[in-house]
Amino acid sequence: MMNKNSEAILNFENKEIALPVICGSEGEKALDISTLRKSTGLVTLDQGFANTASCCSQITYIDGEKGILRYRGIPIAELAAKVSFVDVAYLLVHGTLPTEKERMDFSSLLNYNSLLHEDMRHFFDHFPKGAHPMHILSTMVNAMAAFYPTVDVTATARNIEHSCARVISIVRTIAAFAYKKSIGEPIVYPRHDLSYCANFLNMMFDSPVKPYHISPEAVRLLNVLFIIHADHEQNCSTTAVRAIGSAQVNLYSTIAAGVSALSGPLHGGANQAVIEQLRMIMADGDVDKFIRKAKDKNDSFRLMGFGHRVYKTYDPRAEIVRKECEKYLKETGINDPLLDIAHKIEEIAREDSYFVERGLYPNVDFYTGILYRAMGIPENMFTVMFALARLPGWVAHWREMIGDSTKIVRPRQIYTGRTPSEVGSEIENFSPPSLLI
Ligand code: SDX
Repeated sequence: MMNKNSEAILNFENKEIALPVICGSEGEKALDISTLRKSTGLVTLDQGFANTASCCSQITYIDGEKGILRYRGIPIAELAAKVSFVDVAYLLVHGTLPTEKERMDFSSLLNYNSLLHEDMRHFFDHFPKGAHPMHILSTMVNAMAAFYPTVDVTATARNIEHSCARVISIVRTIAAFAYKKSIGEPIVYPRHDLSYCANFLNMMFDSPVKPYHISPEAVRLLNVLFIIHADHEQNCSTTAVRAIGSAQVNLYSTIAAGVSALSGPLHGGANQAVIEQLRMIMADGDVDKFIRKAKDKNDSFRLMGFGHRVYKTYDPRAEIVRKECEKYLKETGINDPLLDIAHKIEEIAREDSYFVERGLYPNVDFYTGILYRAMGIPENMFTVMFALARLPGWVAHWREMIGDSTKIVRPRQIYTGRTPSEVGSEIENFSPPSLLI
């Protein structure tokens, strides 16, 4: 719900232009500049869109100053403590937590759509050994567009419902198959009698010669980890999904774009980069040196897992993961020296004015890798875990976008290149090559 309850006056070139100020349901205010260019000839410039809302959305609310994260109005800590990932996926996509019947129907849809098309299985035989699972994932998700009925803004409600469940479910199968292929083990098919997270763990770790014991604690932990990653308003990959989807691209290719965006080390790839960085710092032994490097403007080194575009306080998700991580390692007797390094970095940074003044705190990626390691998830699958978890968020935003707007995403720019006078007679003096050779 948003309302236009005031306006801002812009004075420009001796003209006064009134721009409406809209207010969101949590009191956020925005200048509606949709008539700006028409009435003034001006556009706005905002590198990285740090000050620009690209849309109105009812899915997720973040207050970066207070460390608040809510999915459809429900605080993340309550969801992580009380609800399953499948219920959260339903909440994000449909707007409310499911009734018992809605949960049964949604779970059946996920189960029915968990098998990968058998002809797609052979794709795995042709990826080079050592291919990063995120590249395999984005390729396979895009290929779904060739194997399943296309679904875009013109699809029927039923097709959209089935396709959204399919992409949430099959991508989990693709991820597990990619892992099995990477270690040369036979793939393990999804089972109809297992829950979403238990199925994923079983597909990842079961083997014909060594049956996998599905630990209820590992299933609970995976539900929590998937829940806290499930959505995060207009982050880079969700913005990619909305932008690509706005051109009426089919759902699978749109989600593949989200997977690609998430793979970047400044975004979802950070959870793997954190572990690589902690290992490097541990090997070097001098934590203070790396804190200095992170603060040095002339050094490109950044503390991975630290800082956030929106959170200028502790990321509420990092809080949940850190507690779960400490608890799980203690209960399982795992002594991971990387956790000690992470604790030391956080302790130093929280007292250091450079980090405090910039609101740089651990984000969702800082502790997740240590917990995934303890759970036996291989490092090159960390960002894949993020992608699996983020699927309901991407799907929810895609559905909201196709329901809200038919406008293609096409920002303006400010041209700063050569003018004709600077080009001079370059084209006149240009001697084109023969087009025959
Ligand atoms: C995710 O958007 C989302 O919601 C993303 C996400 C989601 O759920 O979808 O939350 C998931 O992507 C989490 C972020 C994972 N990435 C990292 O951990 C990589 C390390 N972090 C940084 O690269 C950075 O903090 C970003 C990319 C996360 C945010 O970058 P911004 O908002 O563009 O911040 P900035 O670069 O403008 O930094 C502001 C200041 C700068 O210093 P000054 O120029 O003001 O002197 O803070 C400094 C930066 O140099 N800074 C850091 C730092 N992050 C920012 N300095 C050292 N180490 C860091 N990690």
